[in-house]
Amino acid sequence: MRVLTGIQASGKLHIGNYFGAMKPMIELQEENELFTFIANYHSLTTSKDAKTLHQYTLDAAIDYLSVGIDPNKTTFWIQSDMPEVLELYWILSKFTPMGLLERAHSYKDKVAKGINANHALFSYPVLMAADILILDTQKVPVGKDQIQHIEMTRDIAIKFNNEYGEIFTLPEYVVAEEVATIPGIDGEKMSKSYGNTIELFMDEKPLQKRCNKIISSSTPLGEPLEYDGCNIYALASLFLDDTQKIELQERYKSGKEGYGHFKKYLKELIWEELGEAREKRAYYLDNLDEVEDILATGAKRAKTITQEKMLTVKDAVGLR
Ligand code: ADP
Ligand code: TRP
Repeated sequence: MRVLTGIQASGKLHIGNYFGAMKPMIELQEENELFTFIANYHSLTTSKDAKTLHQYTLDAAIDYLSVGIDPNKTTFWIQSDMPEVLELYWILSKFTPMGLLERAHSYKDKVAKGINANHALFSYPVLMAADILILDTQKVPVGKDQIQHIEMTRDIAIKFNNEYGEIFTLPEYVVAEEVATIPGIDGEKMSKSYGNTIELFMDEKPLQKRCNKIISSSTPLGEPLEYDGCNIYALASLFLDDTQKIELQERYKSGKEGYGHFKKYLKELIWEELGEAREKRAYYLDNLDEVEDILATGAKRAKTITQEKMLTVKDAVGLR
């Protein structure tokens, strides 16, 4: 099955991103033909400045490689290294009714939030359609907020195919299995925009400090603690199997340990889970050439498919 995922790079990744997006994506590469790219043309629509966009793009590439994208199994590249997609974006624009774009929730939401609308933001779904269609993608795993974009992609592809024959594969979305919302240190949804995250790649001491900031109730030491509803427990249980969860529940109930102990335990769990990723990340940071090679090889591999596809499309519409 050919599966495509696009990653928006928007800053330091956190535990919520790790369990909600990165791990599920990395599991896909075992059984599918996975294509994954950093969507930097898309990020340009909301980027503050060149330096930040460039840095976020590189950081995301390194972080995803570190947590387990295997370049031998997965084709991994930066979107702007395959500009063919912009050519298709223009061609598809002709098959995109204005009304379709005007109905897009994500555009309407952004405008409602007061973001100054520009054409890139408005036509974002057409570029996403081009990303998907240029590779004959069969499945696109997305969060709920992106379902409409896949439906629009299908609408655009159907319009095109109706006129020129069965050129594009109609993609299907797969809504990633509901990952429970991971709480931040204040118990609200962990999110960059709430300033309540635990970042993935922190040094050990700052990581412990961050874990110490998790809000917990103030039961005095010596009394049994309630694990249900405890943010430390909720975060720790992400790393545990059923037996380990029961063991942790027993520790809460025993009254022998306080929240400080569980915060230490949580830090150790995070530190251990990311041990291998941290080593790989240190390696990639020291060997940026290798990262560039991986991304260049990915772009080249993707292009063998997309360049051919573009010839077919251009033939069909009369651009050759
Ligand atoms: P943020 O809210 O920090 O800006 P993003 O919107 O960039 O995070 O999220 C990127 C991906 O990470 C999303 O597709 C989502 O599936 C996942 N994700 C982010 N925060 C959480 C969370 N608290 N719980 C579960 N998944 C999350
Ligand atoms: N719009 C997606 C998001 O915000 C990112 C994206 C761009 C994408 N192009 C894609 C996802 C193609 C899947 C397929 O998360």
